[in-house]
Amino acid sequence: MLDVGVCGTDREICSFEYGEPPSGSEYLVIGHESLGEVLEVGPAVSRVRPGDLVVPMVRRPCPHEDCLACTSGRQDFCYTGDFTERGIKGAHGFMTEFVVDDERYMNVIPQELREVGVLVEPLTIAEKALTQVWQVQQRLPWVTPGSPKRERGRSHRAVVLGAGPVGLLGAMALVTAGFETYVYSRSPVPNPKVELVASFGAHYVCAETTPVAQLAEQVGSIDLVYEAVGASQLAFEVMEILGTNGVFVFTGVPGRKAPVEVDTDRLMRNLVLQNQVVFGTVNAGKDAFEAAIRDLGRFAKRWPEAVRSLITRRVPIESYQELLLRQPGGIKNIIVLSRE
Ligand code: BGC
Ligand code: ZN
Repeated sequence: MLDVGVCGTDREICSFEYGEPPSGSEYLVIGHESLGEVLEVGPAVSRVRPGDLVVPMVRRPCPHEDCLACTSGRQDFCYTGDFTERGIKGAHGFMTEFVVDDERYMNVIPQELREVGVLVEPLTIAEKALTQVWQVQQRLPWVTPGSPKRERGRSHRAVVLGAGPVGLLGAMALVTAGFETYVYSRSPVPNPKVELVASFGAHYVCAETTPVAQLAEQVGSIDLVYEAVGASQLAFEVMEILGTNGVFVFTGVPGRKAPVEVDTDRLMRNLVLQNQVVFGTVNAGKDAFEAAIRDLGRFAKRWPEAVRSLITRRVPIESYQELLLRQPGGIKNIIVLSRE
């Protein structure tokens, strides 16, 4: 293993709020956002070679023969819940020097992405979400990737909730897909994220000073909300301003807090009278990994500085406590395992 990213899921596991060791084990090796180098392959391996840089998939199929999702290689849609996730649920992860794995779960990345390849896994979340957005919006005349005619009139507008790695990578993917993109985040202005967001062509809107109603005025009709914070109160407030034919995507996993009040009549009226769709999405399939590798390459060409600045700290494994047990700040902080 070369690099392993740390996210909220890892911190939750380290405070024993989430996660599960492999059966029979008293401990769990964490680490699911990773970048490794292939050192050795067995005789039946044909797709990866020693020296390849690879990003392993996280989720592995459940054992049930009647799980249509898992038996089709789509364990990210597992029906039974008996899937495992390396570094999270029932299987050891990647925060360790060496890993043995099956080539089918390996995604080879170009050598040029060595420095930022660890961002592939968090980007897969956005890629899977976007694929589903295109699928949903096939119900109406829309600009989908590869569609020959660009829609006359305005471009589509997306609001990203949260300026963490999943939000920022999602915002880059949305800009790349042609959305006028707004990142709505609590971090007060000025802060380095404002310029970062502007540098790749999105707009930063501060949630502390711009209430949701004002956000609606500023953006106009919102075609897509990409939620990436796991704060349900804010999410449902923003859902109230989703536009006609709009799609709202949840990717965050909130901790359990006190119930919040929402105006359910208003939400339901809007959903029906404005053809809205709300969906949640977790984990990612092979296609999302491939899309993420492609897009990360594009981002790194278009906005090299912005992509690099998403990785705010690189610490040796000895300093794991700083990233896992404290509040390290920054955007994506990673643990470096390679000793070159
Ligand atoms: C990971 C996903 C995983 C999810 C739920 C996220 O942090 O990136 O791969 O499916 O947690 O465990
Ligand atoms: Zn994660």
